[in-house]
Amino acid sequence: MKILITGGAGFIGSNLISKLLKQSYEIVVIDDLSTGKKENLTAYLPKIEFIEGSILDKEKLERLFADYSLDLIIHLAAKAGVRASLENPTIFNEVNVLGTLNLLELSKKYKIKKFIFTSSSSVYGNNKKIPFSENDKIEMPISPYAASKRAGELYCFTYSHLFELNVTILRLFTVFGPNNRRDMAHFLMTDSIFKGKPIKKFGDGTTSRDYTYIDDITEGFLKCLGKNFKFEIFNLGNSHTISLNQLIETLENTIEKKAVIENLPLQAGDVQQTFADISKAKKLLDWQPKTSYQQGVKKLIEWYKKTF
Ligand SMILES: NC(=O)c1ccc[n+]([C@@H]2O[C@H](COP(=O)([O-])OP(=O)(O)OC[C@H]3O[C@@H](n4cnc5c(N)ncnc54)[C@H](O)[C@@H]3O)[C@@H](O)[C@H]2O)c1
Repeated sequence: MKILITGGAGFIGSNLISKLLKQSYEIVVIDDLSTGKKENLTAYLPKIEFIEGSILDKEKLERLFADYSLDLIIHLAAKAGVRASLENPTIFNEVNVLGTLNLLELSKKYKIKKFIFTSSSSVYGNNKKIPFSENDKIEMPISPYAASKRAGELYCFTYSHLFELNVTILRLFTVFGPNNRRDMAHFLMTDSIFKGKPIKKFGDGTTSRDYTYIDDITEGFLKCLGKNFKFEIFNLGNSHTISLNQLIETLENTIEKKAVIENLPLQAGDVQQTFADISKAKKLLDWQPKTSYQQGVKKLIEWYKKTF
């Protein structure tokens, strides 16, 4: 089974590759290294094919599909982050929507068996119904990032409907853990607490997120590989919400150091809460998160201390 992983040099991609290599998958990665790093793949490079390039480069992508007989696509490459998307919505649209469309077109042409699209809990916007379920009507994304992910989902549905392409969409709820993305709260705050620098606290600390540990997320991708759905959407979340105040307190307790806090107003585009209903993933994927929030933070801090 040969898998193309787009964005494989990033946080989730590199963690996923480490797991996939323990099974007998052949892996090809395309990544433009805009946020991902080649060092994330150093340990795996003799075993995987790495192509530096963009999913917006149609010629390079076409060559890749022609050169490797791919069975499956795991599409992770994206511009990620709500706040960054407010600053440059055009690039989010290009990579997350046009990039996805390029991959879907080639998947159709090269008769790919399965396409896994990485979406985000942000597509739920300020959904009133808690917890968020895959059947909820979600037509009001409140950031360009969310809109671009939702648009990607819609194209995925269209291609699965029109062509012989099986598509699974995974809506990930804020992922954290070793090798955490550097622009995300867990990394920024951990780094600042260790260095004695102020952490930015947006709002009164009552906004909450369903933080999900990286190994549970990668396990969800593995579970998907073993199934064959025509078209399904799954939430992958811990199904347990943590407020910003709890996040800061957990980091302080684990690091054993008080944070210096800079209070700032809530940011536009941020949702009030995310909370995953994971009953569908439990039932159809036999997937269940195993890492409590506290255990996950402990592993994150151990990784930070070893790395920095
Ligand atoms: N981390 C989270 O909490 C989270 C939550 C929900 C969804 N997601 C989604 O999961 C996926 C992976 O996120 P991540 O946290 O690992 O982020 P990341 O930034 O670490 O990984 C994204 C990767 O895509 C690559 N990339 C960006 N533009 C590209 C392009 N044009 N062509 C080729 N490669 C390109 C980057 O270099 C990077 O390696 C993204 O689709 C993201 O939207 C992440």
